[in-house]
Amino acid sequence: MLLQKEKTEPPVIRQLFFDRILLTGFRATGKSLVGRLLADRLALDFLDTDALLCRLIGCSVADFVAEQGWSRFREMEERLLMDLSRRSGAVIATGGGAVLHQQTWKALRRKSASIWLQADEQTIKRRLITDVHSEQQRPSLTGMDPVLEIQEMLSERIPLYQCGSDFAIRTDGRSPRDLVEEIEHGLSLLTEKTKSI
Ligand code: S3P
Repeated sequence: MLLQKEKTEPPVIRQLFFDRILLTGFRATGKSLVGRLLADRLALDFLDTDALLCRLIGCSVADFVAEQGWSRFREMEERLLMDLSRRSGAVIATGGGAVLHQQTWKALRRKSASIWLQADEQTIKRRLITDVHSEQQRPSLTGMDPVLEIQEMLSERIPLYQCGSDFAIRTDGRSPRDLVEEIEHGLSLLTEKTKSI
């Protein structure tokens, strides 16, 4: 039986109006997974700031933070984000704390489309528990109880994600392919809006 190759619609976005696409949002909201699929779909490069940072520091986020602390990690992260502000033709999945660097985030957003991937506390908690990368990539940010930490950090960060993005996508219970389609639609609306300014 010959398997019929699933017909996928051609990308809505033929020509990307922006230099790059940024994915922002809390931990475990799907930035890396959706980012890779989106980049494939739009024939763009895919960059993951955590993966780039781990290559730079030569170890996992958890090991680096255990040795050198969060502020040193943030320094490295900010420098990388600044370098990426000169990069075009890519989808960039940023770490959940990238928006903390507000001036650098502003610079990175120039000529970028920035998309906020959202999920509620329950979804984030469940994904953090089931994601094999969590232990190495997501050490505790505060030393608090993990569930309290999600609540606390989410309420702190939501205003930053909101003002640091062009539009938001809810990810709870949705397939990555669905999310990519919705992002494409959002990008074409944003392109029209930006062109009309
Ligand atoms: C962090 C999120 C992580 C990673 C580091 C810090 C944060 O990335 O950069 O653990 O401050 O929220 P993901 O959002 O990809 O998990």
